Amino acid sequence: MGTQTSLDAFKENQETKTIDTNRKLRIGIIGTGWIAGAHMQSYLKQPDVEIVAAADLIPGKAEKFFASWKNEAEKKGFDFSAVKFYPSHKEMLDDESLKLDAVSVCTYNRQHAEPAIYALNKGVSVLLEKPFTVTLDEAVEVCRAEKKSGAILSIGFQPRMDANMKEIKRIVESGALGKVYYITIGGGRRRGIPTPFGGTFIMKNTGGLGALGDIGCYALDMVLHAIGDPKPLTASGYTSDFFGKDPATYPNHPEYADIFGVDDFACGFVRVEGGVVIDFRTAWAMNLDTMGDTIIMGTKGSLRIPSTECWNGSVGGPMTLYTEVAGLQTETKLPILPQNEDLFYLKIRTFLDAVKNGTPAPVPSSQILYNQAILDGIARSAALGHEINIEIPEI
Ligand SMILES: NC(=O)c1ccc[n+]([C@@H]2O[C@H](COP(=O)([O-])OP(=O)(O)OC[C@H]3O[C@@H](n4cnc5c(N)ncnc54)[C@H](O)[C@@H]3O)[C@@H](O)[C@H]2O)c1
Repeated sequence: MGTQTSLDAFKENQETKTIDTNRKLRIGIIGTGWIAGAHMQSYLKQPDVEIVAAADLIPGKAEKFFASWKNEAEKKGFDFSAVKFYPSHKEMLDDESLKLDAVSVCTYNRQHAEPAIYALNKGVSVLLEKPFTVTLDEAVEVCRAEKKSGAILSIGFQPRMDANMKEIKRIVESGALGKVYYITIGGGRRRGIPTPFGGTFIMKNTGGLGALGDIGCYALDMVLHAIGDPKPLTASGYTSDFFGKDPATYPNHPEYADIFGVDDFACGFVRVEGGVVIDFRTAWAMNLDTMGDTIIMGTKGSLRIPSTECWNGSVGGPMTLYTEVAGLQTETKLPILPQNEDLFYLKIRTFLDAVKNGTPAPVPSSQILYNQAILDGIARSAALGHEINIEIPEI
């Protein structure tokens, strides 16, 4: 019979929280590539979890993955000897004897929707990696499955757990900016097409979206969530693939240029409800260090957020708040807040708490649906060559 006291997921509040270890959640991992390792590392820090199953389309990959984690797991008191392996999410989820409570869906983007829907239809809760999906239609189908199932669905945006990301939202909500009307998203990578583990990010039939989905989703979430997740209305997008299609980009793997089927640069002009426009850009590769800072402009103040690495959620330096006080134009540097707990740990812990307690998902699909609608809108507008209306079907 046990309980373990640990610092709460949201450590800045310095709350303590008790993890009930009497009920252990039975977890399966779908897709055992790079990000599955980050999930595994965090699951092994949870005293109320049993990892009971894994699936991968590549024969033997899931078995190898678990073998590589065996020693670490044993040190943490986990026993992998009874873990069952499956050739895809279907066989795993069809095996009722597993009695799964939840799965981590760690597959490439094109395989986000199908396993998530399959799991939800079986009443199994889902922690789905980002980006939500590739298309808006897929995201809508996942949301419908979630609604029918009553199970928990959370989307893997770990920057949401970051103290500075939360601070951005608090600043907007404090009214210090007045009415927000214009946002520009900077950032991007000078060279950073993700190919260290093969081609799944860059092929159309696995990645589906390039920089737009991979890192654009984080940049968008940072600002969309800060301003209250407004519904998107229109998008005018442009995408290109000049670096991705150039063999010189990959001196050791020039063949990647042939299979590159996504964007390496994307930009868009997006109107959202509440009279706000978002000037969006992102890049996996460009001849520039950064496309600049992220800026949220309001009638009373504006916030400059130094260019960020996106995925790890941290701001790139102290933020600046520009306001006018009694006729004086003032600038306030905001200190970077310490982030004391690992964001990946928090992503998993907050999901497990929601599954156990039946409380709302830490990163709800209803919010990320709008993020996906914008990615989809930019991609579709870019393909059509003109602005489009964004229409989001009823869930
Ligand atoms: N949150 C983050 O910081 C972060 C970081 C990296 C990647 N990701 C996301 O995680 C996802 C996976 O990235 P990765 O680098 O691990 O990719 P990867 O290609 O290395 O691994 C994906 C694995 O899923 C397997 N797979 C695909 N469909 C499957 C199915 N239906 N059933 C079982 N296995 C299946 C593939 O065979 C592959 O082994 C991507 O969507 C990516 O955007 C998130």
